[in-house]
Amino acid sequence: MIPDSFKQDLLNRVDIVDVISPRVPLKKSGANWVGLCPFHGERSPSFTVSQPKQFYHCFGCGAHGNAIGFLIEYSGLGYVEALRELADGVGMKLPELRPDAGRRKAPEGPDLYEFLERAAGYYREQLKGSTRAIEYLKGRGLTGRTAARYGIGYAPAGWQNLAAAFAQYEDKALVDCGLVIENEGKRYDRFRDRVMFPILNQRGTVVGFGGRVFEGDSGPKYMNSPETPVFEKGRELYGLSQAREAIRKANRVVVVEGYMDTVMLAQYGVENAVATLGTATTPAHVQKLLRQADEVVFCFDGDAAGRRAAWHALEVSLELLSDRKAIRFLFLPAEHDPDSYLRAFGREAFEADVARAQPLSAFLLAGLKDRTDLSTLEGRSRLIAEAKPLVGRVAAPALRAQLVHAVAEAVAMTPSEAARLMALRDATTMREERAPARIERTSTAVEGRVERALLACVLAAPELASELEVQTLDAARAEARAIVEVRDLLRAQPTVRTVGGVLEAFRGSEHEPVLVAAERILLDLRLDGESAALVLRDAQANLLNRRNKARHTELHQRIAAGLATGEERAEFARLSVSRPGLSETPQTSSKTL
Ligand code: CTP
Ligand code: MN
Repeated sequence: MIPDSFKQDLLNRVDIVDVISPRVPLKKSGANWVGLCPFHGERSPSFTVSQPKQFYHCFGCGAHGNAIGFLIEYSGLGYVEALRELADGVGMKLPELRPDAGRRKAPEGPDLYEFLERAAGYYREQLKGSTRAIEYLKGRGLTGRTAARYGIGYAPAGWQNLAAAFAQYEDKALVDCGLVIENEGKRYDRFRDRVMFPILNQRGTVVGFGGRVFEGDSGPKYMNSPETPVFEKGRELYGLSQAREAIRKANRVVVVEGYMDTVMLAQYGVENAVATLGTATTPAHVQKLLRQADEVVFCFDGDAAGRRAAWHALEVSLELLSDRKAIRFLFLPAEHDPDSYLRAFGREAFEADVARAQPLSAFLLAGLKDRTDLSTLEGRSRLIAEAKPLVGRVAAPALRAQLVHAVAEAVAMTPSEAARLMALRDATTMREERAPARIERTSTAVEGRVERALLACVLAAPELASELEVQTLDAARAEARAIVEVRDLLRAQPTVRTVGGVLEAFRGSEHEPVLVAAERILLDLRLDGESAALVLRDAQANLLNRRNKARHTELHQRIAAGLATGEERAEFARLSVSRPGLSETPQTSSKTL
């Protein structure tokens, strides 16, 4: 585990504005920075970044967090990866040697990444000595430069070649990272006599391999690493770490099916391409892709399998879409894949095709129309029925409304009729259903308002923690418990200096939702050190008042019931003085005597 002190140190050195502004254009607005939220589609900026407090909050969708959280959400990095990226930026070194441990919970033990990196180095070396492999790659038109860029290698024929690369062929880690297969007590290399494509994670660390046989050899054409603690096929995209910069520049990512496609596209100058790894597109893929750029173009082979794969990608994408993002589909002629197409027609033809790719909406409508006979009433009714689950899943409100229009037009109905028949709920409610934590943040309007304000003050000016009179707090309230915890944290750990730091300390704890609500107030009220002190005193007075009032009522009842002690009567009198209007001592009821 990475020590909390390191995280706080890191957060103190990093500036969240430096982290966010290269990715989201920000404008100064008073003490804060604002911009268009990258996490939901919007036209006017509600994404707010506070430099002194080192956190961000979107008033539109509720997204929030510190610099670490931003990188995780925005770049799709794992927790430790995000820490590493931030640390790199400010010249700090992570104390933890096992990358990704935070996210993948890799079991205690050897560093699987080290084994995979070493194997990749070994395969690269072996390629230099294999005329056959070199000839094969040359025959496919691959240059040495491209091979180097993608770290392509060669796993020689033979059963235990890796014994030459690792001191301990018996090491369990070799099996754990998928390089060696153990079967009935025998061990042998998984990859033999194959051209090797290392698969890198977003950070550029090897997490697995794809190995291709030579033309005419037996066995499956490609063999991939199995899923391991560091490799989850449904999350990784081949070529992403090499393509990131080009993707960012083009604000577009092209998704293809094959290793060779990605590699050849890059060689031809289409550097913003990645591939799924022989698996169907997953929601995790789509999420990751949408974080990289505003436009995602899926490029599938033109055959039936390609169409099916595309339709699946469409279905997976529906609920992840936002109105600021576009997903498109490009179908190549049936006999081509991107590699062969590029060699036949060149880069410009391919780029032009990409630019003209079919928008998701058009593909969706065309797919629906293909399945039904629109010349009959029955066919048109069926289209409505088939559209319902698909359109219903579209989270982007504007796109959804337009789809409803288009469907209505196709079946010759009014949009409202079509919407009613598809029983569509409001897209905004749907978003909330999908993100229950976010509702919680906004719906508890009045309950605990004072406590939240108090918490906000302490967050705004941690030095106020010492002024807190926690005995006035009602411990039954989540806010009250959070206040006490935050106060204790600030006293115990002077390195926690910003709201971002506090958030980090409570990441994943029960106090997180309350902190987020308070952080929102903090921005709303634009609290700084001075105003926070005033609000804090006000809030404390408020709480004291509330407590006294409750106690006053309680004593009133006890006196009325004839149960009060002399001390309680005195207390009642004192409270009555400080609460004018409640001064008369109740008449003791004769019935209760
Ligand atoms: N694939 C796989 N296992 C297979 C076949 C394919 O994992 N047995 C994956 C690979 O990632 C491959 C992609 O699916 O790159 C596309 O497969 P295919 O179109 O058959 O191969 P190509 O990429 O065209 O391979 P090549 O050009 O090397 O023949
Ligand atoms: Mn191919």
